[in-house]
Amino acid sequence: MQNFDYHNPTHIVFGQNRLAELDQLIPADAHVMVLYGGGSVKRTGTLDKVLSGLGQRKVTEFAGIEPNPRYETLLKAIEIVRHDNVDFLLAVGGGSVMDGTKFVAAAAPYAGAETDLLQHGFEPIPITEALPLATVATLPATGSEMNMGAVISYQGGKRPVMSPLLFPRFSFLDPTLTFSLPATQVANGVVDAFVHVLEQYATTDENTRIQDRTAEGILRTLVEIGPETLAKPQDYEARANLMWSATCALNGFIGVGVAQDWSTHMIGHELTALFGIDHAQTLAIVLPSLWRVRKEQKRAKLLQYAERVWDITDGDEDQRIEQAIEQTRQFFESLGVKTRLSDYGVKAEQIDDVIEALKAHGMVALSESGDLTPEISREILEGAV
Ligand code: NZQ
Ligand code: ZN
Repeated sequence: MQNFDYHNPTHIVFGQNRLAELDQLIPADAHVMVLYGGGSVKRTGTLDKVLSGLGQRKVTEFAGIEPNPRYETLLKAIEIVRHDNVDFLLAVGGGSVMDGTKFVAAAAPYAGAETDLLQHGFEPIPITEALPLATVATLPATGSEMNMGAVISYQGGKRPVMSPLLFPRFSFLDPTLTFSLPATQVANGVVDAFVHVLEQYATTDENTRIQDRTAEGILRTLVEIGPETLAKPQDYEARANLMWSATCALNGFIGVGVAQDWSTHMIGHELTALFGIDHAQTLAIVLPSLWRVRKEQKRAKLLQYAERVWDITDGDEDQRIEQAIEQTRQFFESLGVKTRLSDYGVKAEQIDDVIEALKAHGMVALSESGDLTPEISREILEGAV
């Protein structure tokens, strides 16, 4: 196991009908900006509940943070925050709204150019303060509600923004707020959470038994709960388990002391930026092919995954690995998430564009050991046509 520090300060407020407790968690004299997306929180009544929970506090609403939040949109929020002295940010929405809010929290008090904060990849951004932020999560998927990361769309790329100052102070996880999600977003959430676990698990073996068994527990839960949630959209217990799975998949706990490989995400981000494919759909396309190409590097963990997540024990090693990859692909398909580039209208000749984008964004030494070159990314994408 590698050395690690672990500190996650986010207070989770889990359960239904708790939004009135906002009143106890935000300073009474705060000027709160409530940030949200394209309007789902208005249609579902979630926004009204949030505003009522905020009581007499001064509130400014900022609407219109789009999926894959754009830098230009967030700049408008930053200007209002600065001009009106907003001092608390409350994100109400999915990963895009939570991520966008994190960027506003970092950039509003930052003295330099805002674009500086988009140039640091997975390294912490150079900030010494951030506005306090909190979330009301409406889409279980990204884990943004309990982590310190954001992904911002800028100049045709998706830029990670990381800082320990960006952990939400608190996050409300009310499973009933997710009842209104369309099936495609539920399925996307299951796939995103599933792949988050795998990016921290299907790597080199570092003898990390707690992390491994917790990861396997989340994966098995998602295999059970994904179809159940889609079949019974109003089932509270299914939603509750899905929501906590997604949060635990990327709140840092299973990622300590392990080798991580975010290649599927990095290649997937280019597919979103170039072709507009949903984040989770890109992961479903890339992961099975990546595993086939990288079977040798991941052999021990893929065999462990086959046995402990899918109960695959028959056949030789290569057969067991292939069966595990195929079951994973079929699991995504069974949720309604397609796993081929051609399913999204992307043709083999467009792979060149993806490779150029990876190079332009410096994604030339991916994987847990930095040996995944653009040529290997090409092989992976060719295997996913
Ligand atoms: O904009 P509104 O109208 O709210 O509609 C949204 C949006 O159209 C809708 N939605 C959300 N909650 C709903 C709802 N519709 C009905 N009922 C509800 N309760 O869902 C649509 C998608 O929302 P979005 O926030 O974009 O989805 P998701 O949560 O999957 O977030 C995706 C973004 O997160 C980033 C991705 O790159 C992408 O930009 N990620 C962030 C990570 C992180 N911060 O740690 C890690 C992830 O790997 C990921 O990269
Ligand atoms: Zn993701």
